[in-house]
Amino acid sequence: MENNKKYYITTPIYYPSGDFHVGTCYCTIMADILARYKRLRGYDVFFMTGTDEHGQKIEEKAKAKGMTPKEYVDDFVVRAKDLWKILKISYDKYMRTTDEDHVKAVQKIFEKLYEQGDIYKGEYKGLYCTPCESFWTETQLVDGKCPDCGREVKEVKEESYFFRLSKYQDRLLKYYDEHPDFLEPEKRKNEMIKNFFDKGLEDLCVTRTTIDWGIRVPFDPKHTVYVWLDALTNYITKLGYTTENDEMFKKYWPADMHLVGKEIFRFHAIIWPAILMALDLPLPKKIFGHGWLVINGNKISKSFGNYKDPRIYIEKTSVDALRYYLMNEITFGEDGNFSEELFVERINSDLSNDLGNLVSRVTTMVEKYNNGIIVKENLPFQDIDADLIDVASKTVENVEKYMDNLKTNDAISEIWKLVSKANKYIDLSTPWILAKEGNTQRLNQVLYNLVECIRIIAIPLQMCFVDTPQKIFEQIGVSKDETLWDSAKEFGLLKTGTKVKRGEILFPRVEMTEDLFKVEENEEEKEDKKGIITIDELDKVELKVGQIKEVEKVAKSKKLYKLQVDVGEKAPRTIVSGIVPYYTEEELLGKQVVVVTNLKPAKLCGIESNGMLLAAGEEDVVKLLVLDNNNGTLENGTNIH
Ligand code: ME8
Repeated sequence: MENNKKYYITTPIYYPSGDFHVGTCYCTIMADILARYKRLRGYDVFFMTGTDEHGQKIEEKAKAKGMTPKEYVDDFVVRAKDLWKILKISYDKYMRTTDEDHVKAVQKIFEKLYEQGDIYKGEYKGLYCTPCESFWTETQLVDGKCPDCGREVKEVKEESYFFRLSKYQDRLLKYYDEHPDFLEPEKRKNEMIKNFFDKGLEDLCVTRTTIDWGIRVPFDPKHTVYVWLDALTNYITKLGYTTENDEMFKKYWPADMHLVGKEIFRFHAIIWPAILMALDLPLPKKIFGHGWLVINGNKISKSFGNYKDPRIYIEKTSVDALRYYLMNEITFGEDGNFSEELFVERINSDLSNDLGNLVSRVTTMVEKYNNGIIVKENLPFQDIDADLIDVASKTVENVEKYMDNLKTNDAISEIWKLVSKANKYIDLSTPWILAKEGNTQRLNQVLYNLVECIRIIAIPLQMCFVDTPQKIFEQIGVSKDETLWDSAKEFGLLKTGTKVKRGEILFPRVEMTEDLFKVEENEEEKEDKKGIITIDELDKVELKVGQIKEVEKVAKSKKLYKLQVDVGEKAPRTIVSGIVPYYTEEELLGKQVVVVTNLKPAKLCGIESNGMLLAAGEEDVVKLLVLDNNNGTLENGTNIH
């Protein structure tokens, strides 16, 4: 195979810091789609994914679970591989940064960079964000917090080794300039240059003395390698770089595509190329920063209560349905929304109605009218045929054009153009009338055209769908040669005698119900959600406007007033409130306040209190929540939402 027909694609290596959700699967599914596409085009593909297993965060997680870090990461990797299997991710290599070969290679790289002066020893004084495992300078902080995650950073001071990143600033900028396709999308590249180069690159701290769980610097073992140097080099160490056994490295490096999420784009766009320049190695062909999946506009996270194990979507629908949604619905490079309602809608409309029905209608008709046999007639084409064939014969070339430009959602839409054209063609050509009239030749021609379209649809679908194309090929009885990518560029390949056999429904309709995608939470998840309440739970609290009608001090107490509060009922309620130190009787009389009206009655100093006034503050300053009555007043008893 020629060398320019190789395609080395990587995903980021994931932190074993939490469980996967549909957002974290997105990158790997998209990488899988690109890998499958290139394989279909005849490329020799090497697709790598894996886990980034070192660092303080892992050390802490493992400790919290009573495990050693190695036990913890081993457990995670089993679960990760299981998920990739369910999603049918066709990776060729699973890389782990705790693998012995990677550890040795990182040590060799570190030594080499140190010996040539690209790494030097210094003292690090700076600001560190533990969750992001990132060091920041004062100027990079936003409102004094980590610019990536918005959390507190802490000041650290320690002896450290540094990589001379600043030395590569000009070379990097020149490289970006000379290789306009290197970083994509363009807007992420521009944003990154503005945010990081305008201020000037600073040397990068590449070791820590306070983290045990990491790769040791061989000549100074109290230092462990800071995660990004460890993580980024995975793309070459796993190919055998630094070893004698480096055929894979020679064959596949430079990578053709590093697919990464937007928040780690800059590490890949700045630090990684600088390390490669220092190692005198060629740079990857492309680094693409995809956007984030959000759920109805919210970040996916356990604390938002919208985190869900993605397996549920597959159990209730299919892998192909999920892969289709992600490829079709999200503009590659942009943030995208994952909505369960829209997901079900797409299954029912695009997959079940459009594609599923096309295949089932056509195969049913061929069985019914022609005993399942395809016949190629030598009849002149009518206008509707020419129109259909025109779309069909351009489909795959257009798909290629879009896929080669990473317009993945346009590529899938292109296939659906033909699906919808073929469905319309059935209505226009009315095979059932042709059958009734006994117009066999024309009927054969129409059915032939339709089956040929289905073949041309199923071929490029193989990049996205992992089960459906095979099912379609079986139903329309095509030979292996007639399923090859380039064969979809030729309309009219099907032979007379091809045997069609209607099969199972490809995409059964899904009914959206409230608990369709409900997952039972485990104890850990319940713990994570502590303190979060749902809107229904909030609705349980009944809040009303109340007006203080009478005020009386409780004899035996220094703090309590006995109040009569009108909350719109027949008679005012007695409410006991501990606000004597903060308000005089006169100040309270007539005030409209916020009252919790469905609180269980409680006895205070022998008086039954039937509600509670909302107040803010404690000890020295306490303020009642009072209606301002600036522009008119509300009636007592008005509900507060
Ligand atoms: O960053 N939508 O690992 P990671 C889309 N170990 N993508 C998402 C997402 C969402 N809602 N949430 C997370 C790391 N991701 C490093 C990588 S590579 C040398 C080292 C993506 O587990 C995220 O953008 O935190 C990233 O690309 C990937 O999940 C792994 O994130």
